[in-house]
Amino acid sequence: MRPLNVLIIGCGNIAGAFDEHRSLNDLPVTHAGAFYRDERFNIIACVDPDYQRRSVFMNRWDVASGFLSIDEVAGSHDVFDIISICSPTESHIHDLETAIQLSPKVIFCEKPISTSLFDAERLVNKCKESGISLAINYTRRWDPDMLKLKADIQSDRYGQLRSIVGIYNKGILNNGSHMLDLLHMLIGSVEVVKAGSPVDDFFLDDPTIPMWLEGRKKLPIHLVCGHADDYSIFEVKFIFSSGVLTMEEGGMFWREQHVVDSDVFKGYQKLDNGEQKKGKYPYSMVCAVDNIYRSIYEDASLASTGESALAAQRLCEKIKHLACN
Ligand SMILES: NC(=O)c1ccc[n+]([C@@H]2O[C@H](COP(=O)([O-])OP(=O)(O)OC[C@H]3O[C@@H](n4cnc5c(N)ncnc54)[C@H](O)[C@@H]3O)[C@@H](O)[C@H]2O)c1
Repeated sequence: MRPLNVLIIGCGNIAGAFDEHRSLNDLPVTHAGAFYRDERFNIIACVDPDYQRRSVFMNRWDVASGFLSIDEVAGSHDVFDIISICSPTESHIHDLETAIQLSPKVIFCEKPISTSLFDAERLVNKCKESGISLAINYTRRWDPDMLKLKADIQSDRYGQLRSIVGIYNKGILNNGSHMLDLLHMLIGSVEVVKAGSPVDDFFLDDPTIPMWLEGRKKLPIHLVCGHADDYSIFEVKFIFSSGVLTMEEGGMFWREQHVVDSDVFKGYQKLDNGEQKKGKYPYSMVCAVDNIYRSIYEDASLASTGESALAAQRLCEKIKHLACN
């Protein structure tokens, strides 16, 4: 099989900058970092209007061609198998529309697809009509720990799942959609019971909103908010009948607490402190590009698609509507 040609739109943090000063022995957390380490791909071109940023990116990831805008690429005769869209969210619509005209096999777009649900739906349909596969970087869909947790929930490995409590900040669409997409992946569809008061903690028009949701069989799910000015937080506690599993630091770590006898209150049982273990979240980007490769050459299904991303975005809209009206 020949290596797949990659074009990356936007040369900022998630495109490659987060990995720029990390060792090639570290697991990559960016698009360029993951494609560069995998010899099945060649990053042949990139786009960024910022000359300095583009040059650093081209040098770091050995990219031969650099463009000021995706419109410039459309005027060239290059052919790409994969187009990664890592530009600011406001640019995604234009970049997606132009990327579709370039007829790649896969578009790997950063989340959220767009700030407008209407446009996001339109572009997901347009990709489908054009026969282009669309993968959205809701990263945890490729996290091996999450796939295991999904199977463990289904097999009642930790007993019955009693409730889920999550903490997030920095916007319902920006980060909350990661949390809602994760819930969809792990337990299927969820309903909104109540949305709390919005907190404007970072993005204009994308408040962080506390919420009470319900999963199948009325499984209670509470998502509460931190404030983006304080620190980043993305944690989820899965409360099972035989213990508690906590995803810490967005999946960088996990804590598994078990039921033990209380040494103070005779006859009562409590949770032990558990032990913090390293999570497999850092494998997500490697698994994402592998999934993309296999979707092209082996007809594998993409773990995160336009449709799954839209489901999370529709839920965000519903919660925002309830909270802000
Ligand atoms: N999946 C995740 O966990 C995750 C994490 C971080 C960011 N993101 C998403 O990735 C996107 C980019 O975020 P970031 O943090 O890397 O931003 P960033 O500001 O670090 O990088 C954006 C880059 O795009 C360039 N740019 C601006 N306009 C452009 C255009 N029209 N065409 C091409 N490039 C353009 C900028 O010069 C900059 O270098 C956002 O949509 C964000 O929500 C996702």
